[in-house]
Amino acid sequence: QRNYSVTLLPGDGIGPEVVSVAKDVLTLAGGHEGIDFRFSEMPIGGAAIDAAGVPLPDETLAYSKESDAVLLGAIGGYKWDGNAKPLKPETGLLQLRAGLSVFANLRPASVLPQLVDSSTLKKEVAEGVDLMVVRELTGGIYFGEPRGFRTNDNGEDVGFNTEVYSTFEIDRIARMAFEVARKRQSRLCSVDKANVLEVSMLWRKRITAIASEYPDVQLSHMYVDNAAMQLVRNPRQFDTIVTNNIFGDILSDEASMITGSIGMLPSASVSESGPGLFEPIHGSAPDIAGQDKANPLATVLSAAMLLRYGLGEEHAARRIEAAVIETLNKGFRTGDIHSPGMMLVGCKKMGEEVLKSLEAQKPVA
Ligand code: NAD
Ligand code: IPM
Ligand code: MN
Repeated sequence: QRNYSVTLLPGDGIGPEVVSVAKDVLTLAGGHEGIDFRFSEMPIGGAAIDAAGVPLPDETLAYSKESDAVLLGAIGGYKWDGNAKPLKPETGLLQLRAGLSVFANLRPASVLPQLVDSSTLKKEVAEGVDLMVVRELTGGIYFGEPRGFRTNDNGEDVGFNTEVYSTFEIDRIARMAFEVARKRQSRLCSVDKANVLEVSMLWRKRITAIASEYPDVQLSHMYVDNAAMQLVRNPRQFDTIVTNNIFGDILSDEASMITGSIGMLPSASVSESGPGLFEPIHGSAPDIAGQDKANPLATVLSAAMLLRYGLGEEHAARRIEAAVIETLNKGFRTGDIHSPGMMLVGCKKMGEEVLKSLEAQKPVA
């Protein structure tokens, strides 16, 4: 019997709905593999602002750091949108990522044959897409100094941020991306804006330098504007993409739509040591929160990534992924991935169906 502690951070909006499903799925899949989980649920984001006055209470970070892995739902909502920076839900999430030093965010986007009709792209374009965005997560313009507001010489308000990367930061995300690419199709595309930005010029130089350590991986470079276009023109050309924090944020949302819905895409945020942070790439979806409409599969698949990348429990991870596929094969669809002839279900029911599919698998001998 293996034991792990997992910190659950449901957060805001649809966060609690999808985390509740993923928790049950983790428990059952783990049980079938002889794994026991100890869960502690902690507040983050708007929920934490309301309960404790800050978006990331010390206790939430302390628990997260001490656990074996962290599963997060989503944060944010209209209620807190007007808050000053330190009291924004988003600030809590950034503090958590920084606090755990999870500098590498892996965001896979694969088109499942079951969902090819849910993509807004033509079948011929979407079919067979299987790519991975490796997004730098603890640097770049999200964290760069100086930042803030000031007044210019004309007395106007000015807001400013700084896109900054050091050699150390680029080299470690580069090595992570080359390692990821090596386990895939060994093709790595680095996305930057090196035709304009100094920070991207250094990025490209360091990625190219690190490439000499990985002669078996084929490296290419692409400007981000072209990459955004190529993703919808011919997404199958991509295997592994490595990029900075903000380009990775944007391109992964774009990539999600190739697969049918942002409600399907999981992510793993990892460092060289210490617990990983696992979260869907979507947000708190305030427009559908509390209506039992959310697709829980992105979070369920994030739980699979938690098992694989966070705990090294590959078999349990595969159980969850197989159960998701089986549930889709049976025709169950939440609204975001619904197509004619399929069974429209809510978040809860989708969760129950994944549990049934898990139940039908053979427990480990
Ligand atoms: P969003 O991802 O929350 O929603 C975008 C659209 O996708 C909405 O129409 C929503 O209904 C839909 N959607 C998202 N997840 C879905 C799911 N699981 N099932 C079905 N439909 C889904 O992005 P947004 O509207 O730009 O942001 C809303 C809030 O979430 C903001 O406060 C934002 O800061 C926050 N946010 C948080 C995270 C995070 O916690 N990691 C990520 C992105 C946005
Ligand atoms: C994401 C979100 C976050 C980000 C926000 C909510 C801080 O968009 O996880 O993709 O920009 O990283
Ligand atoms: Mn995002």
